[in-house]
Amino acid sequence: MTQPLSETDGAIPRSLELILDSREATARVAHALAGNLRAGDLVILTGELGAGKTTMTRALGDGLGVRGGVISPTFVLSRIHPNDPDGSRPGGPDLVHVDAYRLNSPEEVDDLDLEYSMDRSVTVVEWGAGLVEHLHESRVEIDLERSLGQEAVPVSGEEEDTEPRRLTMRFVGPRWGEREVADLHGKVRNAAMG
Ligand SMILES: Nc1ncnc2c1ncn2[C@@H]1O[C@H](COP(=O)(O)OP(=O)(O)OP(=O)(O)O)[C@@H](O)[C@H]1O
Ligand SMILES: [Mg+2]
Repeated sequence: MTQPLSETDGAIPRSLELILDSREATARVAHALAGNLRAGDLVILTGELGAGKTTMTRALGDGLGVRGGVISPTFVLSRIHPNDPDGSRPGGPDLVHVDAYRLNSPEEVDDLDLEYSMDRSVTVVEWGAGLVEHLHESRVEIDLERSLGQEAVPVSGEEEDTEPRRLTMRFVGPRWGEREVADLHGKVRNAAMG
């Protein structure tokens, strides 16, 4: 019989936490996660302005082999990046990239009709916590924290891509079974180290 996973029962924890030293480390981790994502999956990104949410989404798109440069959806709330038949995962899912920063309620999210694209896409929502959980019983929740408990220092020059981020990744719901979560723990840690 399989035991339910929790932080305390000695099984593989549902969440992992680690430090990402650079923008590249953040991108590598997202790329590693993309390898396990499939159509229907939901990813929720949380973190202050400039934390690295779009950086992660871009690398997810890369790993999924979708078309088009992933950029901040500043003027549109959501953008579809179709799977590229000549990309790294032909026949794989599309990427739907949503920026929920300006949305205030789950009802406003429903106006985007994300459920129509979800079945054939990986749906990634920046600022989605508290707004999009109703779309799927399962999800990956990713938090990026910038200041690591110190005061956030303005960066410049070559240091601007190498500010540490604290990453927390949680696997929520029945989609994420024990074996896959364990596998992802290893992959993500390796990717973070480079
Ligand atoms: N360890 C790191 N991980 C990710 N980005 C980093 C890191 N160190 C520095 N950066 C820089 O931080 C910025 C992250 O920008 P990004 O657009 O990805 O953030 P965001 O969370 O999407 O912001 P917004 O809330 O405005 O959408 C980039 O300029 C990137 O080079
Ligand atoms: Mg962004």
